[in-house]
Amino acid sequence: MSSQIAVFGTGYLGATHAACMAQLGHDVLGVDIDEGKLAKLAAGELPFFEPGLPEVLRDNIEAGRLRFTTSYEEAAEFADVHFVAVGTPQKQGELAADLRYVDAVIESLAPLLTGPAVVFGKSTVPAGTAARLADRLRVLSPAPDEVELAWNPEFLREGFAVKDTLHPDRIVLGVDRTRPGTAEAVARQVYGPLLEEHIPFLITDLATAELVKTSANAFLATKISFINAIAEVCEATGADVSVLADAIGYDARIGRKFLNAGIGFGGGCLPKDIRAFIAMAGELGAGQAFALLREVDSINMRRRNKMVELAREAGGGSFIGTRVAVLGAAFKPNSDDVRDSPALNIAGQMQLQGAAVSVYDPEAMQNARQQFPTLQYAADAFSACSGADVVMILTEWKQFVDLAPDELAGTVRQKVIIDGRNCLDPTIWRNAGWVYRGVGRP
Ligand code: UDX
Repeated sequence: MSSQIAVFGTGYLGATHAACMAQLGHDVLGVDIDEGKLAKLAAGELPFFEPGLPEVLRDNIEAGRLRFTTSYEEAAEFADVHFVAVGTPQKQGELAADLRYVDAVIESLAPLLTGPAVVFGKSTVPAGTAARLADRLRVLSPAPDEVELAWNPEFLREGFAVKDTLHPDRIVLGVDRTRPGTAEAVARQVYGPLLEEHIPFLITDLATAELVKTSANAFLATKISFINAIAEVCEATGADVSVLADAIGYDARIGRKFLNAGIGFGGGCLPKDIRAFIAMAGELGAGQAFALLREVDSINMRRRNKMVELAREAGGGSFIGTRVAVLGAAFKPNSDDVRDSPALNIAGQMQLQGAAVSVYDPEAMQNARQQFPTLQYAADAFSACSGADVVMILTEWKQFVDLAPDELAGTVRQKVIIDGRNCLDPTIWRNAGWVYRGVGRP
């Protein structure tokens, strides 16, 4: 059975969720305050790069199951299932999450809900937010006994957004146990095709659902910083962190995923989410437990400085007069996202210290230019490397992993390569006469 669904916020999370809910057969209205963004989406164009999503978007617009609007009135009239998928960025000058967009959706939508409706929060929020929003919903709605708020966190990864939404590892639903309502039944209907695949479906209280999401991200960040701390030890001892990660990864309790040492994590989620977690724990008086996450954050930031130092050394001890080619600007491959991107941060630092930095990324050029207009941007990998004293691979795009050392040798001034993602085979590069430096490997 299909549902009438409104999705508030048509950024990464919202646009993906709206398109994927339509793909499941529901009638979906995407709602945003940004008319320009909606016009693009309605024309079947994505304002960001996400493999596979444009097709889902276009197919469902054509099938008449997916539309977009700026009107909350239209959304309240049309839908009885509402998903809140707006951003919760880091607050300016603070660690905490900025909840103004989530608040704004509830404040605008609630007064328009005159009949039975379930509002599912999907945004990543500190524990306690859902309970507060549930109260606001009841206070502001003309039908307080017929509206309900539940929390249904999203775990999607950029680059795998469609797969992660249509075939998630699990579905988590937080409900207000003191006020049994229809949220679980409604979620079972909305996610019916997923539940038929026997995807685990966990019903929790509101705070647990909120914390599941932040804890999952904190764990992933910890795993990356753990292996990067080990990389520091490997550097001091001459050991190889990549082989070490393979070896410990065979232990099923550890697992090989998220054990790639390198320049560390970035993006729109992990960095801001662990900081919001630290801020929330502090407010709740559980701050000490989070000394760990502060360390995770500082290990991560340290990798960026380390990379800059490595490049300085490779350039002979100073950046003045050194030409550096930076391959990769996105925070990870198969994405055009440069939010808190370690690659761009490193490129920027080197430029500010006097290097001539030339950047190339297959998808993130436009976003990188906007964020860091003073860097030089090249038309392709070979032009970026033209005359370079140091080549740095900072995002492991396949086209960079596949670069042939002999071909690249013709364009550079010095055959020096720094592999910030340990994604190249050192033997191949060294045999071709290059000086190869990786992270935590000899
Ligand atoms: C992440 C979570 O994975 C996802 O579940 C959550 O919903 C949102 O945040 P995403 O930001 O898309 O997703 O990126 P992810 O694939 O997790 O990578 C995060 C960062 O960690 C990237 O900068 C990546 O390069 C880095 N990383 C990842 C490593 O440095 N080493 C690894 O082994 C894995």
